[in-house]
Amino acid sequence: MNNSNRIESDDEAIHSWYRFVLSYPPHLVRHYINDFGIDNTKCVLDPFCGTGTTNVECMKNGIPSIGIEANIMTYFASSVKTSSIDNYPQFLKDARSIAEKASARIHSGEIKNLDDDEYKLLIRGSIDNNILSDLLILKNTIDQSSSRYCNHYNLALAKCAVNTFSNLKFSPEISVVKNKPKNANVTEVWLDEVLTIAKDWQSFRSFFDTPCTIYKGDARDIESINITQKIDAVITSPPYPNEKDYSRTTRLETVILGFVHNKQEMRSIKQQLLRSNTKNIYKGDSDSDYVLKYPEIVEISQKIEAHRIELNRDSGFERLYSKVFLNYFGGMARHLISLKSILNPGAKLAYVVGDQGSYYKIPIRTAELLGIIAEDVGYRVERIDTFRTRFATGSGEYLNENVLVLTYEG
Ligand SMILES: C[S@@+](CC[C@H](N)C(=O)[O-])C[C@H]1O[C@@H](n2cnc3c(N)ncnc32)[C@H](O)[C@@H]1O
Repeated sequence: MNNSNRIESDDEAIHSWYRFVLSYPPHLVRHYINDFGIDNTKCVLDPFCGTGTTNVECMKNGIPSIGIEANIMTYFASSVKTSSIDNYPQFLKDARSIAEKASARIHSGEIKNLDDDEYKLLIRGSIDNNILSDLLILKNTIDQSSSRYCNHYNLALAKCAVNTFSNLKFSPEISVVKNKPKNANVTEVWLDEVLTIAKDWQSFRSFFDTPCTIYKGDARDIESINITQKIDAVITSPPYPNEKDYSRTTRLETVILGFVHNKQEMRSIKQQLLRSNTKNIYKGDSDSDYVLKYPEIVEISQKIEAHRIELNRDSGFERLYSKVFLNYFGGMARHLISLKSILNPGAKLAYVVGDQGSYYKIPIRTAELLGIIAEDVGYRVERIDTFRTRFATGSGEYLNENVLVLTYEG
């Protein structure tokens, strides 16, 4: 039974426990749940689940789901968003006690700083030092409380650190803006976020009965994650080859929550990610080997490199453009191959991907190129749906965001 009508009352509930800006719209997930005829006897996977939009939407519709995410911060967010609270009065009691204790520490003049290595990871100017200190005191008070709801409290802290207190703007690229208006009462804003979580949980507690597991792992190497459940449908939005650096978009809260302490740890997170930008290309990357047999893909990479030479562009990152392109599609090829180990025959798949022109405006028809790879590695391309058209400020062009629809016949 597909009970998608249950969610009409509050579309953003639970999704908004973290930052909406990283995700795609929940209605897209509902569309493919209906289109694929998914009911509560089936299991949906999002192998690039990010903040968990697909999983939360499945939960709201009573459909069991699994998520895989390689970035520790978004893994944490999707895990918390799909975990139940179970003792509402205790949740409120612990939160109020934390707010009171943190507030007293802040008012006593206590100061807390990041270590030098941690501080260096932050995007310059992303947060005022006094506010950062208050957030770190709150974080420390949450951890010292040993409440069993620390994860929910930390997610609320991550959200308000970025949305209310940082100088960061996402439009959609991340930038630092000066004089962003802020309410400097950290504990008050945080408690409001916590109360929203509590309210959502109380209104929609039955959703949390639906099984959902989020795994931290690399979608290019699913065999090593040890997922025993078989999958009937995939609904996902992987990164696009567009220079977006997901570890940078989530940098501030990753550091404040203490998930990463230095450059080396940050680098090892980035190495787990699909190569989709010049800042996460490394010596020895070899995902590109998987796509050297597709002339349509190799030709575009050659065009990008030829264009660079013609324009006489010699910067380190421009030299990487054609490499990112090949390693991106190679990584997606690895993903599609390794995914087959957990798919049920007849599984339906929807990949939301944008066309790109980030590299000298040379058109990259992402869905079409992924379709070529998918057909070759054992899937049938059903169709490509256009989901929306966006104006790309960089290239001054309109680019399609498409959904590549596949079937795995087994
Ligand atoms: C377009 S975002 C997905 C957004 C998601 N729909 C949401 O609700 O937030 C792509 C995600 O893929 C993740 N990712 C990148 N490479 C990955 C990999 N190799 N394995 C798993 N996740 C990866 C990124 O960290 C990012 O969160």
